[in-house]
Amino acid sequence: HWSVENNVDNFEDYPQVAEAAQYIRDNQIVAFPTETVYGLGANAYSDEAVAQIFAAKGRPSDNPLIVHIAEYQQLEKLVAGISKQVKLLITAFWPGPLTLIFPKKSGVLSDLVTAGLDTVAIRMPSHPVALALIRTSGLPIAAPSANRSGKPSPTTAKHVEQDLDGRIAGILDGGATGVGLESTVLDCTGPFPVILRPGGITKEELERVVKDKIEVASHLLEKTDVPRAPGMKYKHYSPSAPLYLVDGEVGWIQSLIDEKRKQGFKVGMLASTETQSKYKADLVLDVGSRNNLDHVAHQLYHTLREFDQSNVDLIYSEIFPQSDVGVAIMNRLEKAAGHHWVIQEKQDS
Ligand code: TXA
Ligand code: MG
Repeated sequence: HWSVENNVDNFEDYPQVAEAAQYIRDNQIVAFPTETVYGLGANAYSDEAVAQIFAAKGRPSDNPLIVHIAEYQQLEKLVAGISKQVKLLITAFWPGPLTLIFPKKSGVLSDLVTAGLDTVAIRMPSHPVALALIRTSGLPIAAPSANRSGKPSPTTAKHVEQDLDGRIAGILDGGATGVGLESTVLDCTGPFPVILRPGGITKEELERVVKDKIEVASHLLEKTDVPRAPGMKYKHYSPSAPLYLVDGEVGWIQSLIDEKRKQGFKVGMLASTETQSKYKADLVLDVGSRNNLDHVAHQLYHTLREFDQSNVDLIYSEIFPQSDVGVAIMNRLEKAAGHHWVIQEKQDS
């Protein structure tokens, strides 16, 4: 566990970063902060190193990883082509929370990274500690989120420790991450661009740059039933207790809580700042204000993990408007809930 202070100019001079980079060069796995969530990094050229990521996370081997780079020049060594559209996106959003899918150059990266696909996911993070680690190691770093598979992604070094202590070589601790949800994953290798995973960079922001209509894969899924991002088919981001999304008035939600408590269950409620004082449950947590969805995104995984520290048997969660980062928030909440909804019936007046 190496702590690095924030607000310094040059993390590349940090002995902690140099030490972590040496572990990466030695094909060991190290957790590090990015602006989205903590990543679990390995030398993306090495089968030996990348295999340890899948083992430590308990991740299915058919779910490919994102390769993290720090310079544009690294990209050309890894991909078979960069379209005009993608160049515009890179100029607009890198470094930052946008992952792009490229046709991969064969025989360069470890095949474990891409899980047998002929495409590769790449992003340039904007977190100074992540950039320093990549630069100092001199390698492209394959990194999924640094959680056990199925758990909420870690937004602090403490979360990483809870999930992976004893399974990894070390953690670079750069404090809490910014965005709090994973990067937006965009696939521009097909006939039209498709968002495979919504994130902090919204559809509207992307459309403004590519000057084209962008599809969202969850909608495509209904049409085709074929997941384009292998990760989409897994349940994800879940706290231990089952989670249910509730769509209705506060009073009706309270009656659901009361009913379950009467049956002897301990009930958790994921509420917003505006409503939290209105609920009576075994544990009510405030995920942030409905008027500040960026803050809700920042807090969401931390809040889901807080329920794991309690002994609740089930959790009800309020839902959020599907605008801006709300799309990504609802995408993660739906996955955490395994798409379980409880919806209030309309009353006749
Ligand atoms: O913000 C993030 O993206 C974080 C930080 C650490 O960078 N990383 C992250 O990685 O969330 P991970 O492994 O948890 O999620 C990667 C997603 C998965 O849904 C995976 O299926 C998809 O990207 N993916 C990776 N390579 C792909 C490819 N070649 N084609 C389609 N989807 C791909
Ligand atoms: Mg993940």
